[in-house]
Amino acid sequence: MKKVLITGATGFVGGYVVDELLKAGHEVTALVRNPKKAAALERSGIALAQGDVLDPASIESAASGRDVLVHLVGIIREKPGAGFEQMHHQATVNAVRAAAACGMERFVHMSALGTRPHARSRYHQTKWKGEEAVRAAGIPFVIFRPSVIFGPGDEFISMLADFFKNPLFVPVIGAGKAKLQPVYAGDVARCFAAAVDNPDAANRIFELAGPARYTMPQLLDVIGEHLGRRRAKLHMPEALAKPMARAMEKLLPDPPLTTDQLTMIREDNTGDPAPAAEVFQMDFVRLESILPEYIN
Ligand SMILES: NC(=O)c1ccc[n+]([C@@H]2O[C@H](COP(=O)([O-])OP(=O)(O)OC[C@H]3O[C@@H](n4cnc5c(N)ncnc54)[C@H](OP(=O)(O)O)[C@@H]3O)[C@@H](O)[C@H]2O)c1
Repeated sequence: MKKVLITGATGFVGGYVVDELLKAGHEVTALVRNPKKAAALERSGIALAQGDVLDPASIESAASGRDVLVHLVGIIREKPGAGFEQMHHQATVNAVRAAAACGMERFVHMSALGTRPHARSRYHQTKWKGEEAVRAAGIPFVIFRPSVIFGPGDEFISMLADFFKNPLFVPVIGAGKAKLQPVYAGDVARCFAAAVDNPDAANRIFELAGPARYTMPQLLDVIGEHLGRRRAKLHMPEALAKPMARAMEKLLPDPPLTTDQLTMIREDNTGDPAPAAEVFQMDFVRLESILPEYIN
């Protein structure tokens, strides 16, 4: 049993990770900005520490006396005061420095597939800077790079399913040739929970991806088949999607599409789950077997 501090516990992936940490018998504390919003987490049997990943003192105080920090916080769209640089790089610097200063045994870090030096998207560029901070901090680490994560509560697959409410067509941006390898949130969470104390995982980076690769049109076919709805695919030229995304970024607080996402969906987001499957004894599940739990 380890004393684990987790950031991002109130988020989509965080809920799954908390469940798996508790199942594995760890004592869990969540760093939360607003304890009132996190009351459900407290009821599930974990402690809350009020704090903000952009406030180094608050993380250090929460980290004191704990063994492992699981750092999940990240964003997909920027907001005033919470840009990619702050949330992926500075927040990670703050978290990993706090973990090292408190003499923690391990830092388990959420990155993303596609993270690499000189990546095209700012999401991936700043995730790379976050990873670099983790590797340089001098504390044993485990870094996970998942592809798009699915499961009840997700944003991406639920949004694609919503497209099917349109009786005529579902949209596809550009040619839709890039491939994705969606991974189940429950599987991601089991890897995170196991990484807390698995000796074979130390100082390694694991790609997390499901057993199948899909282009966007193939993904829409899988969802359409599950829903029993056939729709024509309307390919929207990128030349049209880009100004639309720019306008949405200017006008909406939570734009459904951003220019950075457009950059990302142009590239493959696939990886090799075999090392994670071996070290964590995982059998990654297919999207098709989880869809009935939440898409209807
Ligand atoms: N979802 C995917 O498909 C996917 C794929 C690959 C990688 N990832 C990565 O996985 C991580 C979690 O993603 P998610 O989908 O679960 O995101 P999410 O649902 O948006 O959750 C984000 C979490 O971060 C917390 N947070 C945000 N700003 C914070 C701050 N300043 N201080 C403390 N906590 C803060 C939020 O807390 P509040 O409740 O206070 O807002 C929430 O708990 C991210 O790093 C993301 O990049 C996700």
